[in-house]
Amino acid sequence: MLNPQSKIQNPKSKILSGLPRRVTVVEVGPRDGLQNERTPVSTEAKVRFIDALSSAGLAVVEATSFVHPKAVPQLADAEAVLGAITRRPGTRYPSLVPNPRGLERALRAGAREIAVFTAASESFNRRNINRTIDESFRDIAAVMEQARPAGLWVRGYVSTAFGCPYEGEVPAARAMEVAERLLDLGVDEVSIGDTIGVATPRQVEVVLGALLQRLPARRLGLHFHDTRGTALANTLIALQMGISVFDASAGGLGGCPYAPGAAGNLATEDLLYMLHGMGIETGVDLDQVAAASRAILAELGRPPSSKYLQVGGCYGFEV
Ligand code: HMG
Ligand code: MG
Repeated sequence: MLNPQSKIQNPKSKILSGLPRRVTVVEVGPRDGLQNERTPVSTEAKVRFIDALSSAGLAVVEATSFVHPKAVPQLADAEAVLGAITRRPGTRYPSLVPNPRGLERALRAGAREIAVFTAASESFNRRNINRTIDESFRDIAAVMEQARPAGLWVRGYVSTAFGCPYEGEVPAARAMEVAERLLDLGVDEVSIGDTIGVATPRQVEVVLGALLQRLPARRLGLHFHDTRGTALANTLIALQMGISVFDASAGGLGGCPYAPGAAGNLATEDLLYMLHGMGIETGVDLDQVAAASRAILAELGRPPSSKYLQVGGCYGFEV
């Protein structure tokens, strides 16, 4: 197993030298990917999707969401899904938890990992979870008070770190403050979200630069939506800045019902294709992810958003 902090040594390549040698891909398709889909997906199909993704080697598969069922009807079967998956040893299955009521449901369903969430902009946070940022931190603190003694692994999301659908630009200092507060409350990892997919490489350099002044790269992940086609370019910049955790969604599904205009997440297949082509290890089998994506897209009756599947899933690199 590679040291997660070890870097590629390639004196011939200016781009590759110094990049992380191994990346953890956090698969968010079963949660972020499905939460915005109107076509109901059966519990069985969700479980097959999650099991196929973990079998493909993804070490973190975000399984579902214990939010109010009226807020996200597609994931109203969270308990049933979490109870029916086949847990692969070494795989984490976080579920979104907005408040103590969500935690209570998650614990009863056997959750060992959770993800708490808030935002860098007030207006989005209010529309998303009906709370100011400070109020959401009161809920998160109450969740953490129980989560730590229960031994749960906890991710924390900072949404709208690069732009808000209601407020526009968000100062880099806001994302930094919110991420730091999450880490101070004891979350294991913070995922910085480009909720509506507006970030560009220069902005990633600025926002991540601000974050890295105070926070260690190993505690940060990035969560790019690919609304404007910049997610892979943004990923490359973040890799160059030492980030080795990236969220992605099988088939390029994704979006938030409370973020108008948000399109799918960066597609897992496209991320894997780029990383493997650069010699960066992920431990994930791209063909198996592609098969899982095709199966869920067939359930939804949707064409793929991932470029990799659009060209027929042809893989040209020996890694
Ligand atoms: P609220 O209406 O303010 O809730 O909603 P409340 O605390 O006033 O409670 C009202 C009722 O809801 C009560 O029931 C509670 O028990 C119940 P009553 O007493 O009236 O019978 N309730 C719950 N029931 C089930 N599960 C719960 C729960 N909590 C309260 N967890 C709330 C507040 C947070 C619940 C609601 O706004 C909500 O569920 N929002 C979720 C929105 C959401 O899921 N958005 C998408 C996920 S975030 C995202 O996609 C971004 C991300 O991908 C990163 C990125 O891209 O940036 C993570
Ligand atoms: Mg998202």
